[in-house]
Amino acid sequence: MGENTAKISPNPALSRDRIRQVNVPSGVEVAPSILAADFACLGDAIGSVERGGVSLLHVDVMDGHFVPNISIGVPVVASLRKATKLQLDVHLMIENPEQYIEAFATAGADMISVHQEATPHLDRALTMIRERGCKPGAVINPATPVVMLREVLGKVDHVLVMSVNPGFGGQAFIPEATEKIRELREIRDRHHYSYRIQVDGGIGPENVAEVVRAGAQILVAGTSVFHTADPAAAVREMTRLAGEALVQKVRKVV
Ligand code: DX5
Ligand code: ZN
Repeated sequence: MGENTAKISPNPALSRDRIRQVNVPSGVEVAPSILAADFACLGDAIGSVERGGVSLLHVDVMDGHFVPNISIGVPVVASLRKATKLQLDVHLMIENPEQYIEAFATAGADMISVHQEATPHLDRALTMIRERGCKPGAVINPATPVVMLREVLGKVDHVLVMSVNPGFGGQAFIPEATEKIRELREIRDRHHYSYRIQVDGGIGPENVAEVVRAGAQILVAGTSVFHTADPAAAVREMTRLAGEALVQKVRKVV
């Protein structure tokens, strides 16, 4: 562990099993994005969303090249790994992602997502992630159509639809993302694929129902969780809204 490792107090209160039990029965999960948390008090931020019953923590890695912002890297993921039993969902917004997969896997990532736009060797990157024991995910930017993932959809654990242009938290949801979620759900049904559909950017109570009805199963949310007085309550409320939307969806089908 390097000297620059961030210090985050461990929270032994929640075991992996307990986290599974409090997980959303509806099958839709909120994945809080720590990009919107106060980095000086990450341990507290994590504790607050653990109390909200989440099972995933979304970790945004930015390199200042693929996206116009720099965020966190391998040492922070290693510290998070020691501080929580939550699954670490690492979203790589970096060039040459293949070069860093090993390091993030070793640091303790459970899921690693790579942008289609960031590498000409997406298939190789996804295979590397699986070989390192992590769940591979492919990501598309708002300007990238779903068809660009066609050849890898049978190999991914999850597909992440960006509903903002990546690089910053706090941006407005781009509504065209909803149609892409629907398209991914239809393709999955048609081909019997097993990926989960994740959406990231501008997600909050006002659009949870829309994306869940379209087929989103993992809702990444930063600002709407951590820029509130009570992140645990924010997560619970979004989870409740997701469950409600799912019930409506099932009723409509029946
Ligand atoms: C944006 C990141 C997101 C971001 C979402 O590039 O990938 O995960 O944290 O933040 P909000 O929820 O504030 O849009
Ligand atoms: Zn993200």
